[in-house]
Parts: sequence; structure tokens; C-alpha cells
Amino acid sequence: MNTKENLVRKLKDKQARVAILGLGYVGLPLAVVFAEAGFDVTGIDPDGRKSDSVNKGVSYIPDISTERLAPLVRSGNLNATTDFSVLEGVDAASICVPTPLRQTGDPDMSFILSAVEELAKYMHKGMVVVLESSTYPGTTREILLPKLGEENGLKVGEDWFLAFSPERVDPGRQDFTTLNTPKVVGGITPACAEVAEAWYGSALKYIHLVSSAEAAEMTKLLENTFRMVNIAMVNEMAIMCERMNVDVWEVIDAAATKPFGFMKFTPGPGLGGHCIPIDPLYLSWKMKSYQYNARFIELSSEITTNMPRYVVNRILDALNDRGQTLKGARALVLGAAYKPDIDDIRESPALEVIDLLEKKGAKVSYHDPYIPALTTHAGKEMRSVPDLMAAVREADAVIIVTNHKIYDYQSILNAAKFIFDSRNALGKTGMRSPKVVRL
Ligand SMILES: NC(=O)c1ccc[n+]([C@@H]2O[C@H](COP(=O)([O-])OP(=O)(O)OC[C@H]3O[C@@H](n4cnc5c(N)ncnc54)[C@H](O)[C@@H]3O)[C@@H](O)[C@H]2O)c1
Repeated sequence: MNTKENLVRKLKDKQARVAILGLGYVGLPLAVVFAEAGFDVTGIDPDGRKSDSVNKGVSYIPDISTERLAPLVRSGNLNATTDFSVLEGVDAASICVPTPLRQTGDPDMSFILSAVEELAKYMHKGMVVVLESSTYPGTTREILLPKLGEENGLKVGEDWFLAFSPERVDPGRQDFTTLNTPKVVGGITPACAEVAEAWYGSALKYIHLVSSAEAAEMTKLLENTFRMVNIAMVNEMAIMCERMNVDVWEVIDAAATKPFGFMKFTPGPGLGGHCIPIDPLYLSWKMKSYQYNARFIELSSEITTNMPRYVVNRILDALNDRGQTLKGARALVLGAAYKPDIDDIRESPALEVIDLLEKKGAKVSYHDPYIPALTTHAGKEMRSVPDLMAAVREADAVIIVTNHKIYDYQSILNAAKFIFDSRNALGKTGMRSPKVVRL
């Protein structure tokens, strides 16, 4: 049996030892799914708090319950460490590290680079490596291939195997999870794809192979650019509707009755999260080296980046209509996470909205059941108000930034003096109430 056949057999028999580099929102669920499939999995993360927590069987990711994690740790299928030398005995490694933007808006590849440098020290014959982090097309071939293979004297597709498989997890979602969301996989060579498919197919429900790592990288960017462009378009629709005194929410609901050819997107106070506002910019950055200006991405980014400012201006106008000023007003921001029902604040528009309200002289507080404390972009440290309803009663303006399901919106409406609803959380009740202005 050659190296590939041997590795494929080990993967199919679940005898292969698996490592997941990066135990965050993507890495921990993936580690759990592989461990549940019967693999021996080690999570590696430089953040010792995460590895300690895993080893205690305690989850820190809402999508993975402690009840699900603990038995896997007890049975010995899952453990975690900060020590990369365990990679010496590993057959299959998946990289799930962050890919944020630098202050300049350029890709920050430092986490991928540091993970790859550690991995390079322990590369050996008969290994498969899959990159999962969202990144620009070409990363797997341009960065991972030389560092992990060529510099170690290993021939890709023969001695070791390399692929890209984008993570598509939608935190907070129950119907489609890491396990049953189809997984796109693209190898550096056909043999790489075959090995990666053997590995992922042993634990995940559906594998969709594409012909190259670049096609897999681009797939993720198409998905996220599609969302970014449509969200920007509907945000601009909201701006246009307001100018014409038309209710955008009513228009969207009406358009959504069309059973074909329309997909519902909703406006909001800005893009948030680790993916939609960031990943498309990896593509537009890369396209510059091809002398191509990614116009849809640039335009969408411009429109969505401006949404927090637009929302604050609308609040200012609404208070003005009530004979009030934003300067000196008590503003309560309701919901700080970047989307409903999750505890993730990365890139949340709430941070920008709070800073802009403060700049205009408002006295800002916030409430979020999932985000006990936050630091805004301007460096303001805040804690979620302890008594929601007291804060609602006291506020001159309640601003719904994130429409968590847990809120009792009717009680909030009853208690509030004025609400700016940037998410249509109040629905038709908000449309009818003189206390409410909707985005
Ligand atoms: N969160 C999502 O919803 C989501 C969805 C799809 C794709 N992604 C992509 O997946 C990737 C990971 O995102 P995430 O949300 O899990 O990030 P995260 O910040 O939650 O987790 C990343 C983890 O990697 C660790 N890490 C940093 N450097 C490391 C290194 N050198 N070696 C090993 N671990 C290291 C960090 O300590 C952290 O625990 C990103 O590229 C992101 O864009 C995220």
C-alpha cells in the first residue's frame, strides 16, 4: 500500500489521529464532530483558557453544550493543549484560526502564518492538512504548500495531502450545523481531494468536491459576497424608501410573497460578525494584484459601513421632531451582539452606534443578555445595565440594534418613551405606534 492508500484506510477506519488548530466558534464544533465520529482528536490553541476548559469538559461556545462535550473528554476521544509538539503524532490536521482585517482594511494573515509555522515543524510523511479559515483564493497554494511541503522535502499528492474546505457554520442555528451542512472540499491535487474527502466524509454528512483549492476558497467568497451585496442593496432600499416616505419593511414583506425569483434580505444598522463584513474584502484585496477593482464589494462595503451613521442621524431627526435633542438625551441601546440570539460581538454595528451617539452628546447605556460587558471602538468600557425595564423607562430613546428573541417587545414598547427600531423587531405594532420610528 502506498502512502495515500494507507492514510485513506486509516481515515476511513477512524484510526487516524486528528488535530484541530484553533478552538473557537469554528474549531471546537469541528473537533466535537470528529470526536463524535470516533476519531481521537486533539485541539490545539495558544489560549490556555480554552484548552483548560475543554479538558475540564466545559464548553465556552454556545452551539456546543457542556453535556455534549463532557462525555467526549471523559471517553478520551477529545482533549486539548497549547503544545504544538503533539502534531508529531498526528495524521490529519485542520486549521481554524482567525482571519481578521488590519486597521488598513488589508487581510491579517498573521494567525494563518503562525499556525502554519508551528505545523511546519512537525510535518511528516502520510499527513493530510485542511485549511478552513476564510481567506483569499490562492492562500492554500501560495502560503501552505511551500511552507508545509516543499520546505520539508515532502511531495504534495504523494507524501502528504493538502486541501481547502470553507467553514459555513451559522452560529446559533439548529437545523444546519457543522455535521449536516454540505462541506465543499478542493484539493491541491486530485489525490489531495480524495484524501480530504475520505477524512471529512468519515464524520460529516455531505461532501461536495470541487476541482481545486482555489475553487473551494472562491466558493466561500461567493457565498459571503452574495450576502454582503444583497444586504447593502436592501439597506440602500431602506434609505431610498425613507426619502420617499414609503415603509421599507412593508415593501420587503410584499416582495417576499413572490414564490420565485426573490430572496428576502432585511436592512439593519450595519454589517457585523466575523464573515460578511470581512471576507469579501479579502477578495477585493487579492483582485488588486490582478489589476481588477471589485466594484460590487467596494460599493457594498461603502453603503454598509455608513449604516451606523445613518441610523444615528435618523435618531437625531426623530428626537428633533419630538422637540428633543440627542445631546444630553439618555439613549439605551438594546442588543449589542452582531446578530440575534448569540454572544458574539465581533464587528457588531452596536459598537459604532454607541460611539456615534456618544459623539453627539447622548448619555449611552446598553443592555444585552448575552454580552455582559463590551469595549467600543473608541475604547469606552461598558457593562450591560442590570435592570432592563428600569433602563427602558428612564431612557429618552431606546434603540433596538439587535433583535434578540428573548426580549418582551410589547412590555418594552409599553414602558418606553420613544423607540428607534433598526431591525423591525416590533413588526406591525411598531408601524402603528406613534412612539416608534423604524429604519
Ligand atoms: N464564526 C463564524 O461564524 C465563522 C463562520 C464561517 C467561517 N469562519 C472563519 O473561520 C475562521 C475561524 O473563525 P472563528 O470564529 O472560529 O474564530 P475564533 O476567534 O472564535 O477562534 C479562533 C481560535 O484560533 C486560536 N488561534 C489563534 N492563533 C492560533 C494558532 N497560531 N494556532 C492555533 N490556534 C490559534 C485563537 O486563540 C482562537 O481560539 C475564520 O477565518 C473565520 O472567518 C467563521
